[in-house]
Amino acid sequence: MKQQAIITGAGSGIGLACVQKFLAAGWMVDAHYHSSDNALKRLSKKYGNALKCFKADFSDEASLKSFLEHIRNIRADALVNNAAIYDLSQGGRNRVADAQKIFMINTIVPILIAEVVFEEMKIKRKGAIVNISSIAAKYGSNGTEIFYGASKRGLEALTRTLSRQGATNGICVNTVRPGAIDTDFHKKIGRSDQQLVERRKRIPMQRLGKPQEIADMVFHLCAHNTFATNQTITVAGGD
Ligand SMILES: NC(=O)c1ccc[n+]([C@@H]2O[C@H](COP(=O)([O-])OP(=O)(O)OC[C@H]3O[C@@H](n4cnc5c(N)ncnc54)[C@H](OP(=O)(O)O)[C@@H]3O)[C@@H](O)[C@H]2O)c1
Repeated sequence: MKQQAIITGAGSGIGLACVQKFLAAGWMVDAHYHSSDNALKRLSKKYGNALKCFKADFSDEASLKSFLEHIRNIRADALVNNAAIYDLSQGGRNRVADAQKIFMINTIVPILIAEVVFEEMKIKRKGAIVNISSIAAKYGSNGTEIFYGASKRGLEALTRTLSRQGATNGICVNTVRPGAIDTDFHKKIGRSDQQLVERRKRIPMQRLGKPQEIADMVFHLCAHNTFATNQTITVAGGD
């Protein structure tokens, strides 16, 4: 039987690169998307039933609940918790609402999803969970984006907790921490080309990573890894 993966935030960037990697390797993929589905539609034409897509807004309770119901029926071999938002509050007036949204999408929702998937994996006594964190969890974010790094550090705590429970159930749980990766994330958060040039200079390899380079690591952890668990793997060109 084909292996099956659930990937969140799969319509763009790193999530989309993961979808492509898993499909190309013969996996079935359940792809969650929020608003971007053009690339997934194109992949559907190529891969047919191997790719199933589900739309959900993780900041909306009803939408989230229907996604959690949806994944309850999936016997996933791998889960990639990838969807996230950045802290755009810039120290604005709605600090409580901004914090709630960021921590909801970046930390709480991945925990809720993992809880559901983990129960199924325990029955099969096999599985892999990869939480996509950020180098911001290592260095901290800058002062006006304080929630983002903290929310990712919280996500990393999910890895620690689940990996201990998974260790005796054949389930490996790991964190991948991307550095600066060439996706639309930077545009979405209003980072200018000049800022990206400056950012690149601070990376020992002097370049941004490609989404495929993160997908390669994620796929390895899901498809080939059997003994590394509770690890944080930074994929950041030396950052
Ligand atoms: N790019 C980087 O430099 C970098 C560095 C470190 C860590 N990361 C992490 O890598 C992961 C992927 O980021 P990316 O660079 O590929 O950027 P991205 O394309 O913006 O990915 C973020 C994903 O989250 C989804 N999302 C946004 N709001 C959502 C909501 N309300 N409900 C559900 N899903 C929502 C987006 O869906 P839609 O596009 O469909 O709206 C998108 O697919 C994130 O966890 C990010 O924190 C990225």
